[in-house]
Amino acid sequence: MLTTKEAIEKRRSIRKFKSDPVPDEYINELLDAARLAPSGCNAQPWRFRIVKDKEQKLQLANAAYQQMFIANAPVVIVCCADIQGYINGMVSGIQDLGKINAVEGRIINILNKRADQMETQLKTMNKEQLGSRIAFNVAIAVEHMVLRALDFGLGTCWIRLIEEQKVREIFGWDDNIFVVALLPVGYPDESPLPRKRLTIEQILI
Ligand SMILES: Cc1cc2nc3c(=O)[nH]c(=O)nc-3n(C[C@H](O)[C@H](O)[C@H](O)COP(=O)(O)O)c2cc1C
Repeated sequence: MLTTKEAIEKRRSIRKFKSDPVPDEYINELLDAARLAPSGCNAQPWRFRIVKDKEQKLQLANAAYQQMFIANAPVVIVCCADIQGYINGMVSGIQDLGKINAVEGRIINILNKRADQMETQLKTMNKEQLGSRIAFNVAIAVEHMVLRALDFGLGTCWIRLIEEQKVREIFGWDDNIFVVALLPVGYPDESPLPRKRLTIEQILI
């Protein structure tokens, strides 16, 4: 088992996979890592579809501007935000936060107002805008999976260059589901060198 530091340093985007299947047990461990992620008001808006079917993986690759390596991964995890689920989760999450006195009553009132506003916005606002606001919660869960995958020798690659509507159509989802990313998963068949990173000095503002 890797330390968190080792996983962070070892991780690479993997775009070439061996054809060996990934045990369901490992996929379950990834989902377990995802569900433990933090989220605003503990709303947990993440939803996932596990895709192993060849035809669907091909459709996903096509919906990602023909990034065909996606179709060659044994498993693709479609990572989404459930917009109504976020609002519902927010309402019950705020109640829980109040019950355990984790945050001040004043903050609970502000959060409750936010939840009301979101419910109104859901009726009036473009769902894409709401979805992209909620998406960062899902991104945390996705990165939990990315790092946990290393414990099983698995490689992944974040895919955000996608045509969301095309992905929704593959699964018959409506616009309440915002597609955040695809995550191909498999045993790496390449060992990429680390990509360049900014220094600490460069990231301080
Ligand atoms: C939000 C996000 C979106 C990305 N989308 C794609 C993508 O569509 N296709 C792809 O090949 N790589 C994609 N990547 C991978 C990046 O290119 C990669 O993380 C970056 O070049 C650094 O390389 P490393 O991950 O190996 O350290 C994405 C990464 C992130 C975090």
